[in-house]
Amino acid sequence: MNHPPAIGIFDSGVGGLSVYRAIRQILPAQPVIYFADQQHVPYGSRPLEEVRDFSEAITEFLIEHGAGLIVVACNTASAAALHYLRAKFPHIPFVGMEPAVKPAAETTRSGKVGVLATPATFQGALYASVVERFASGVTLMTDTCTGLVQEIEAGRLKGSPARQILQSALTPMLREGIDTVVLGCTHYPFVIPLIEEICGPGVRVIDPAPAVARQTRRLLEQNHLLVEGNRPAEVRFYTSGDPATLRQQVFNLVGEHGLFQAARWEER
Ligand code: SIN
Repeated sequence: MNHPPAIGIFDSGVGGLSVYRAIRQILPAQPVIYFADQQHVPYGSRPLEEVRDFSEAITEFLIEHGAGLIVVACNTASAAALHYLRAKFPHIPFVGMEPAVKPAAETTRSGKVGVLATPATFQGALYASVVERFASGVTLMTDTCTGLVQEIEAGRLKGSPARQILQSALTPMLREGIDTVVLGCTHYPFVIPLIEEICGPGVRVIDPAPAVARQTRRLLEQNHLLVEGNRPAEVRFYTSGDPATLRQQVFNLVGEHGLFQAARWEER
């Protein structure tokens, strides 16, 4: 019997689990292969060319392991590699991440929006194009939240380092009157409670994961890859780091257990 097509999801680490969670909610019957490149996390301070090479190798791995569609669940990898991957693997549909500047610009009342993302994401052409297309008349304030990805990878979602990083990013933005925060890194939805606590009730925090999950569903349908139903499909998790650590992280962050299989990334 042929296996139904899987969604391949990859990230530098556990950040893509925020996208995985949203995908799983609306596509429970679709098998998933998740790859965390924890040997190389964080991606955000690396040169874009290096992240592109990692992304290409992971994409090949996911296709070899049965992925029929790939979600680049990492803003930095999307900035570095999305165009390249689409050209290199024309038979595979890709879904990427872009900072949600458009919905923020459409709904802000103060006209001031905070964007949290990695240095590589801010350097990429994708961010420049999003700003040019959608942010005219809106003031964007940005911060790279140095060290926050590592805190989230370590599971310290409420610790004082994460709080301090977010406080020093958000306080100047709040002083200037932002009413919207765009999460431009897939790790950051895991610290939404902390962001909301610092920002208070008047500020909207935009997590792009549900929109990315809907786009994934649309693309599966268009490409005749959609598996309908509610029966949970198999999910396989791979890491280039330590599988036992990833198992614990997956359980802590998204409560997954049971259909879990970890394997070491074969260096090529
Ligand atoms: C990182 O690995 O630095 C974060 C990845 C992202 O941009 O989502």
